[in-house]
Parts: sequence; C-alpha cells; structure tokens
Amino acid sequence: AGFGLDIRPIGGRIGAEVQGFRLSGDLQPATIRAIRQALTAHKVLFFRGQTHLDEVEQEAFGRLFGDLVSHPTVPSLAGTEHVLDVDGSRGERASSWHADVTFVPDYPSISILRSVVAPERGGDTMWADNVSAYDELPEPLRELAEKLWVVHSNVYDYVGDRQNRSEQALHRYQTVFTSTRYETEHPLVHVHAESGVKALILGHFSQKIVGLTSTDSRLLLDLFQSHATRPENVVRWRWSPGDVAIWDNRTTQHRAVDDYGDQPRVVRRVTVAGVAPVAVDG
Ligand code: SIN
Repeated sequence: AGFGLDIRPIGGRIGAEVQGFRLSGDLQPATIRAIRQALTAHKVLFFRGQTHLDEVEQEAFGRLFGDLVSHPTVPSLAGTEHVLDVDGSRGERASSWHADVTFVPDYPSISILRSVVAPERGGDTMWADNVSAYDELPEPLRELAEKLWVVHSNVYDYVGDRQNRSEQALHRYQTVFTSTRYETEHPLVHVHAESGVKALILGHFSQKIVGLTSTDSRLLLDLFQSHATRPENVVRWRWSPGDVAIWDNRTTQHRAVDDYGDQPRVVRRVTVAGVAPVAVDG
C-alpha cells in the first residue's frame, strides 16, 4: 500500500524513503493526502535529490499541509517569511533529543527539513518513534505515563553534559533562542489529532513533571526517554544536499549528531501549525 507513492521503509518501525518524487508547491490535494497517510504510517519520510527546491518553494510546499509558523524567538532567514536557518558554524547543532518547539501550547504538527550544505562525513540526523515507545511500555509504566503532565520550556539545560559549547553558541542561545521565556504544560501521553494513535511527548524542552520535585522529574523523564530512544525505535539519515525530511512532530523526536567538527553543515526548516495536544482522558 504505497498510497500511489513509491515508498521504501528503512527502519523496522520508523522512517521510509519516497523514491522518484519531485516536491513542489503545486502538488494535487490527493498527493498531499497520500504523503499525510505515509507520514502516519512511517512518521518520517525522506526525499532525495530535491536540489530544485529553494526557500520560496520549500515554503510553498509546506503550505500545502497547513499554515506555516515561524520560530517563536529565532528570526526567519532573510528574504523568507518562515524559514529557520540551522547553521552548524553558528553552533546550532540540535544534538539532543527533542520535538520542535514543544515549549508552546500549539506546537508544530509537521516539520520539513532540507539539506543545503552537508558535511562530507558525519552530521546525520536521527528520529525516534514515540508511538512504539508508548506501545512498548510495560503496563504499570503506561498507566503512570497517562496520568503525568510535563512542563516544557525553551529555557532548558542547553549546555548539559556537552563540554565543547562555544562562547558564541552560548551567547546566541542566551540572546536569541531564549530572548523570550516560554513555558507550557503537555500531557506525557497524547492522542494524535488525525490518526488517534497514542504517543509520548518528550525531549529536551521537558523540564519537570507537574506535582513532582525536580529530582523525581528528572529520574522519571530519563526513564521514559530511555524507552523512547532505544535503537529499535530509531532511524538515522545520512544527508546529501537536496535531501528533504518530513516528519510528524507529534509522534517523533529527533536530534542531529554532532560528529562533524568544523565541516560546514546547513539545514533549513519550515514548520506547519499544530493544535494543542489532547491527553488520553480528553
Ligand atoms: C532540527 O532540530 O530541526 C534540526 C535538526 C538537524 O540539524 O539535523
């Protein structure tokens, strides 16, 4: 069942390549429906060789899925309305697990990431399947997860256990990424607005579990995260310029792999508006 697309699954649970397809801003609604169905099934889709796409066309393609939203604090790339420029040379390495912008109530439903400059070695991105993560939880943990709410904030432990954060990157984090402080609460388990599947909401913006101490929160968040990011739930993509990844931001987490040193790496992202996630009990 390829929904009219030539879909080749990559991971056992997450990730598929769509072959021989040209992305653009003027695809038919039936084609967009097929891509949506494939996204529900595979959670992240990869399209190689989309070197014809520029920022304008990437935005036009994104709009076929809904309204685009700009990053809340990071100005869009010059000359674009909604494109987020992620440049490794500015220290933007996104190398810890997260879903995009979960620190706002109605965080993005879909993200579309395009490789502009890829390192010769390294700089892959990984995605984790938060549906399988939920499904696999042992019953007592699943019951617990369904009761928990999590505080998400853009002011998170950015330095964490990474020793090599540059001064420049830290400065940009403080003055741009966290220029306005956002904080919101999401259920740890939500019911997907379109497919009705249940998925965990986790990632580096998760600060604290409502009603628990920071210490207990960290232990529990780490426990759930260890289930979510098991290798069995993860797919990894080796970028070439012109590759495009589209993911369901409500059923996945992702992270870049910061193993490319000072080789250049640039990716550009647009995100589609979402609605606030709904908990299992409504
Ligand atoms: C992102 O978090 O959207 C960017 C991921 C990447 O740089 O691979």
